[in-house]
Amino acid sequence: MSLTAAGSSAPVAAVLCGLAGWVPSRVVTNEDLARRLDTDDAWIRTRTGIRQRYVVEPGQATSDLAVEAGRRALASALASSGTDRVDAVVVATTTADHTCPATAPAVAARLGLAGVAAFDVNAVCTGFVYGLASAAGLIAAGVADRVLLIGADTYSTIVDPLDRANAIIFGDGAGAVVLRAGHPDEPGAVGHFDLGSDGAHEDLIMVAAGGSRQRSLPGAPSRQDRHFAMRGKEVYRHAVTRMAESARATLSRAGWKIDDVDHFVPHQANLRILHSVADDLGLPRERCVTHVESVGNTGAASIPLALADAAAGRTIGPGDRLLLTAFGGGLTWGSCLLTWPAFPEFPAFPAPARPAAQPTQPAQPARP
Ligand code: UT7
Repeated sequence: MSLTAAGSSAPVAAVLCGLAGWVPSRVVTNEDLARRLDTDDAWIRTRTGIRQRYVVEPGQATSDLAVEAGRRALASALASSGTDRVDAVVVATTTADHTCPATAPAVAARLGLAGVAAFDVNAVCTGFVYGLASAAGLIAAGVADRVLLIGADTYSTIVDPLDRANAIIFGDGAGAVVLRAGHPDEPGAVGHFDLGSDGAHEDLIMVAAGGSRQRSLPGAPSRQDRHFAMRGKEVYRHAVTRMAESARATLSRAGWKIDDVDHFVPHQANLRILHSVADDLGLPRERCVTHVESVGNTGAASIPLALADAAAGRTIGPGDRLLLTAFGGGLTWGSCLLTWPAFPEFPAFPAPARPAAQPTQPAQPARP
């Protein structure tokens, strides 16, 4: 997609110039979960590829992780572009600190950015790709020259800790990027995009209570309705199909062949899903960036966390061509292309792990 800035004939693109990831310090291994749930390490590894995930401490919220990732992404932008100035803060999240207001203004204020435009994007696990498109749109419209986009989620605050099907999958974390106005042909340029949704399947991934639908009904919501619910098998099938379709649509828009993709960076839902999509696309699995093993499914944070992990390990190099593809509740899906820029230095990732005390994941009240 080549966008033209409002009032200008020059093509403009959002260009990546800052990146960072952050996870809370408390690590929960499969063995930790097996001590309190009817599950085991072998089942979790075989079905999901996940070894461990990180979870927030009681009292920590999504904005706390978003601020840490955002601060580091701004430092990364300062090192690579000479400034950490931004005109807008976008937070992609499903686990906002509050039903109202959005989390982004509080994050912006805590980063010393009070006064800039700030809003949330909720496209569940596709949130980061929707956020990239929103940031690119702000830049193309001339509303902002530089945007801080943070994908942050704390699924441990909405997943029932006694629900073995979901407690094993999700982890908490935040990943952030800084995008600046630039040219579509320069390294770091983001685009083409493909975004889609199918709300007819909204019930496949849902927290039923807490919104206007439940609040308009009499009576207190059930424990089940207050927690995250997912029909895993059906979601799995939709995820593989939609991610592959979206990836193909994006490549076709850009005129890229699958062999043009150096790194496929999918939403880190489940290792089997990632490999199935790569196989479907005819992409060697070695080109599929995976990070789910060590952080689980971190929702809107998963793609920027995977990017930060790969960048810190120097497995992605300047000029490499990336295909990002995500899928999540809604249902929503989306993809975009990115040519990797040269980062002068890259912050270490993730935070040092601290083993969890027992019990590993204390029951926290679900958000209303
Ligand atoms: O990020 C947004 C998108 N989310 C996703 O893409 C997630 C998509 N779905 C999945 O990743 C997988 O469906 C799951 C990992 C959630 C589940 O894997 P599955 O291979 O689809 O398992 P299943 O739900 O079909 O369950 C198979 C069996 C069942 O037992 P029976 O009925 O065969 O006796 C489950 O009760 O495994 C049982 N089971 C477990 N066993 C041990 C379910 N969870 C567990 C568990 N430990 N944690």
